[in-house]
Amino acid sequence: MNQPAGKLLLFGATGDLSRRMLLPSLFALHADGLLPPGLTITGTARSEKDDAGFRAFAAEALDQFLPAERKGDSAVASFLERLGYQTLDAEHAENFDPLAQKLGDISGGLAIFLSTAPWLFGPTIKGLAAAGLACGNVRIGLEKPLGFDLPSSREINDIVASAFPEERTFRIDHYLGKETVQNIMALRFGNSLFEPVWNAQGIDNIQITVSETVGLEGRAGYYDDVGALRDMLQNHMLQLVALIAMEPPARFDGTAIRDEKVKVLRSLRRIRPEEVSQLTVTGQYGKGAVTGKLVEGYADELGKPSGTETFVALKAHVDNWRWRGVPFYLRTGKRLAERRSEIVIRFKPVPHSIFAERGGMLQPNTLVIRLQPEEYVRLLVMAKQPGLDREGIRLREVPLNLSLDTEFAATPRRIAYERLLLDLIEGDPTLFVRRDEVEAQWEWIDSIRAGWAANDVKPKPYASGSWGPSAAIALTERDGVTWNE
Ligand code: BG6
Repeated sequence: MNQPAGKLLLFGATGDLSRRMLLPSLFALHADGLLPPGLTITGTARSEKDDAGFRAFAAEALDQFLPAERKGDSAVASFLERLGYQTLDAEHAENFDPLAQKLGDISGGLAIFLSTAPWLFGPTIKGLAAAGLACGNVRIGLEKPLGFDLPSSREINDIVASAFPEERTFRIDHYLGKETVQNIMALRFGNSLFEPVWNAQGIDNIQITVSETVGLEGRAGYYDDVGALRDMLQNHMLQLVALIAMEPPARFDGTAIRDEKVKVLRSLRRIRPEEVSQLTVTGQYGKGAVTGKLVEGYADELGKPSGTETFVALKAHVDNWRWRGVPFYLRTGKRLAERRSEIVIRFKPVPHSIFAERGGMLQPNTLVIRLQPEEYVRLLVMAKQPGLDREGIRLREVPLNLSLDTEFAATPRRIAYERLLLDLIEGDPTLFVRRDEVEAQWEWIDSIRAGWAANDVKPKPYASGSWGPSAAIALTERDGVTWNE
């Protein structure tokens, strides 16, 4: 592992991500003594501010967004002392000189967190390089959106690569920072129980649902340009597929894990234009009630009609030996019935039931990995229902429950950015996405979008508070599979 950086530079320091996630996460790391002792944090953005102004901004953000148990923590004052600020208009390279002066000596290592509009990537990277802020002891973390298709993603990757080699480039997918997502690897490779049946012989199908109840959340400008496929499926959901489907890596390190993930991403079967109507479903939410609250439809929220999908469901295949013939059903959407991220592994039925003639019905075993909002792993197994049934034996599906919430109740939950910021500062790339992964993700996603364009696919309306358009149910029911609801 690399040396921890002595300085952290946050681009977009006065933005929404910074207020909600980055500053509270950095504070938690500071309060728990996890940041390198001398680490300074310099914020930069277009807004005119000085150090004191940024500290006041940060204090307000902490006040608003720290979890209840951290509010009023006495460590706030010492955290604010770490902060400094430099106003920057990133469009002109010469503006980076004052930033470099502000940072001063970076020989102790600099970690940069860059969350910026796509058109600012070029000027920012050039400016950093020209000001000597891309040298050997600087690493850069990149927040999405990193392009909107394969060519634009390559362009951004090329620009970044012109100043930062891959081993110093840390692409963020915040799902990889989630405790429960890392737990997929613990479950698969820390136990001997699952791996022997973790393949086409043992598994019938896999479902991944990432459903949200929120709508646009004031992000209309961004969201309407991308839609659900690119906002959620291209990145977070394909990373989940990769973690579920990958071969056991040789070691728990960035190279070995990412080598295995990229093989999965490259094995995703292309969805041909003539198949998109069969294998994919898109939707856009209309008005309805979400968790008891009336909400307006997408077009009304946006203020204009739109052809952007706020829901996508699809059937994918990973074409390799392990997963031959096993469908992966993926769905994600906004304004759905509930907030839930989960992976459901449906195992094959027993080869022969000895109970059938005695009235016992068997359900195939199911493993549910709930990532959020609850955190649990639940294995559904068949058990005999107690009783003296003369006619037969009554079996019922019952859960073997591992509630991570209860089991680790005493351990505070870390939000994803705590893990990722710490890893960026310390230089551990394991939970960051490598260039070849991102490009494999885009390649597959682009083939779907090309099919949608060729077939002039329009999103189907669905009521807010539902589980999406009925066609999404038909997508699995055709194969005799029911979404876990
Ligand atoms: C982001 C998307 O990447 O992930 C948002 O841009 C989405 O649209 C968010 O709401 C979901 O993240 P989480 O951690 O709340 O599941």
